[in-house]
Amino acid sequence: VTPPDLSAETILITAGPTREELDPVRYLTNHSSGRMGYELARAARNRGARVVLVSGPTDLPPPAGVSLFRVTTAQQMRDTVLEQVASCSIVIKAAAVADYRPMLRSGEKLKKHEHRLTIELEKNPDILAELGALQNRPFLVGFAAETTDLRTHALAKLQAKNLDMIVANDVSQVGAGFNVATNIVRLIRRDGHEEQLELMSKELLAHIILDRIQESRQRAV
Ligand code: PMT
Repeated sequence: VTPPDLSAETILITAGPTREELDPVRYLTNHSSGRMGYELARAARNRGARVVLVSGPTDLPPPAGVSLFRVTTAQQMRDTVLEQVASCSIVIKAAAVADYRPMLRSGEKLKKHEHRLTIELEKNPDILAELGALQNRPFLVGFAAETTDLRTHALAKLQAKNLDMIVANDVSQVGAGFNVATNIVRLIRRDGHEEQLELMSKELLAHIILDRIQESRQRAV
C-alpha cells in the first residue's frame, strides 16, 4: 500500500510530445509516447497528491482522478501551464516540447513543386525557463534528453532554467528515453548531489523521483 505522503501537494506534470503544424495534414513532432509523464501522474495521485496533467497528443489512457488538460502545440502547453502553475507546489516537466515551430502554417495542404522545399522555423517559448524566472516559483524538476555529454548538458539546463532538480536520460541507450517502458537516468540536484540509477521501469522511476523531491524539500525546510 502506498502511503499518502504527498496529500498536501498539488503537482503539475507535463507529458508527451507537442505537435507543430505545417499544414492541415502535416506536423513536426518527436517520439515521446507520454509514458514517463503518465507514470509520474499515476504515482503522484496514488500518493495522495492533487495532480494537474498537461498532456501533448498520446494514445495512453489518462490515469483516473487527475485533472487532465490536453494540448497540441508548445504554445498551448505554455499557456495552460502558466494558467495552472499558481496553485501548484511542484512542477515536473517530462514533456518533450518542440523547440521550434514552422514560421508559417499553410491553411491548405502544401503542394509539390520544386526538388527542394525550405521550411523556416521559429523558436518556441521555453516553458521551463519561464517557470524558473517566476518570482514565487514552485519546486521545479526538468528532464534532459541527450545523446551526447549527458551530464554537461543536463547541468547547463539545470542552471540556465533555474531548476531544483534535473532528470537526465541518455536517450541513445537501449531501454532509455522515448517510447519504451523503462528508463536509465541520472538525477542531479541543485545542491550538487548526483545519483546514477540503473535500468528500471518508468513506474518505479516515477516513485524514486517523487521520493527525491520530498527529501530535497524536507531538507530545505
Ligand atoms: O514520453 P516517453 O516516451 O515516456 O519518453 C520520455 C521522455 C524521453 C520524453 C522524457 O524522459 C524526457 O526526457 N523528457 C524531456 C525531453 C526533452 O524535451 O528534453 P529537452 O532537453 O529538450 O528539454 C529540457 C527540459 O525543458 C524538459 O523538461 C522540457 O520539458 C523543457 N522544455 C523544453 C523546451 C521548451 N520549449 N520548453 C520546455 O519547457
